Amino acid sequence: MTPSTANSPLTPVIIPSVLPADFSRLGDEVVALHEAGVDRFQFDVMDGRFVPNLTFGPDVIASVRDRTDRPFEAHLMVEKPDELAHLYVEAGCDMLIVHAEACDHLHRTLGHIRELGAVPAVALNPSTPASALTHVLDLLDMVLVMTVNPGFGGQPYIATMEAKIAEVRAMVTTSGRDIDIEVDGGIGPNTIAGAASAGANFLVAGSALYRDPEGLGHAVDDLRTRAAQAFAAND
Ligand code: DX5
Repeated sequence: MTPSTANSPLTPVIIPSVLPADFSRLGDEVVALHEAGVDRFQFDVMDGRFVPNLTFGPDVIASVRDRTDRPFEAHLMVEKPDELAHLYVEAGCDMLIVHAEACDHLHRTLGHIRELGAVPAVALNPSTPASALTHVLDLLDMVLVMTVNPGFGGQPYIATMEAKIAEVRAMVTTSGRDIDIEVDGGIGPNTIAGAASAGANFLVAGSALYRDPEGLGHAVDDLRTRAAQAFAAND
């Protein structure tokens, strides 16, 4: 049962990861995703240390900021995100997602992000329990429950994370706070209903959008419809 929240009933928010996009024409790819109807954009920032992959820095994000008016979220898969946070806010990111596992002082980091004028969010790797959120729920606007181990796109969805999604959704409901729950990794037509039914309303997809033979617009609409149907079935 997808419990209601402060913004009940849940409505699906479809967010592309630009990881699979053609980086040689990233600006045009952002425009194409905007025109396909995405709600927000997620930039997977990887430092080659916290995760084995290395992607892009703030300048790349800044270079496409003016190609859409939709919110940007930086998924900081980096060591010591405190030291980099201001750069991603200056690049035009509205939300910064830090990994609980990468923060020595998560409570302070979230407050720092808010002081920078951005929306703070926490990501949990598959092995990190929901209880890591207990003492910071009052500081954040979104929780990202990773449904793959971070570092690469195109990985298989870890369905056992649905129990954690439901646990986080129950924590949020009990808190009475309007906190969104995001999932990222292996989200596509065959997995989005399970994540949505468990309580996720921010749905990140990369490969599934680019894999759709009918194009980005169809892929976005299809994911949104499937998630909405899952919410309706659970209300
Ligand atoms: C993992 C990445 C991926 C990416 C989307 O570190 O964060 O989850 O955003 O991956 P797919 O292609 O599985 O949607």
